Amino acid sequence: MIFATNFKTNNTRAYTKEYIQTLKEFVLKNDIKDDIFVFPTFTSLDMFELPSNIRVGVQNAYPVQNGSYTGEIGLEQIDEFGLKTILIGHSERRVILKESQELIVEKFNYFKERGFEIIYCIGEPKEIRDEGVDSAMEYLWSEFDGIDIEYEKLIVAYEPIWAIGTGVSAKKEDIDEILSNLRAKIKVPLLYGGSVKSSNIQEIESIKDCDGVLVGSASWKIESFCEIIKNGIKG
Ligand code: PGA
Repeated sequence: MIFATNFKTNNTRAYTKEYIQTLKEFVLKNDIKDDIFVFPTFTSLDMFELPSNIRVGVQNAYPVQNGSYTGEIGLEQIDEFGLKTILIGHSERRVILKESQELIVEKFNYFKERGFEIIYCIGEPKEIRDEGVDSAMEYLWSEFDGIDIEYEKLIVAYEPIWAIGTGVSAKKEDIDEILSNLRAKIKVPLLYGGSVKSSNIQEIESIKDCDGVLVGSASWKIESFCEIIKNGIKG
């Protein structure tokens, strides 16, 4: 299983340090070999000494070395911390920050060319899902326009927009249906995200084509993230 936590706009630099230290101790103590990703805020990035299966990444970056892009960071700032993992295409960036597919593709290609591990997010809105699986798949495939789905350091996260931050995950059958459709064309690991928590992790990880989870709100406290990992591994 892959366990990823996206802090979004949460947690301080001080708490992130404590969080990552506790996570590291938990992983070492329990001899956990699964891959674990942490995406903190920019201001909490640092040099963390971690076992190779725990990777810290950036939630976003502009596809440049450096330059005049107010409010953004580029490769120079990421390299300073030796980070090689990035989240691209999250629905909050697509919808709230109005990021276009064109810009997303630019980011994808830029970081792919530099060998980054990319967690690429896709997800459909409720009204599209309500039209049925064919509409949902058409929408989801359009979010792969311009994206190299064969990139060897790619992980895809399916996150239905209507299940994000609502406390109500998509139903097991619905996730199953979408992931198996994705699996027909996509060979890289597939994650599910959208209200994953310690009480539903086992059900989610029992889905055939689900290789892991991308978790937001239920993972912002280290105790809860460790609980999710513990239950996920048990399942
Ligand atoms: P959530 O967020 O776990 O709070 O639903 C998931 C995500 O946006 O990655």
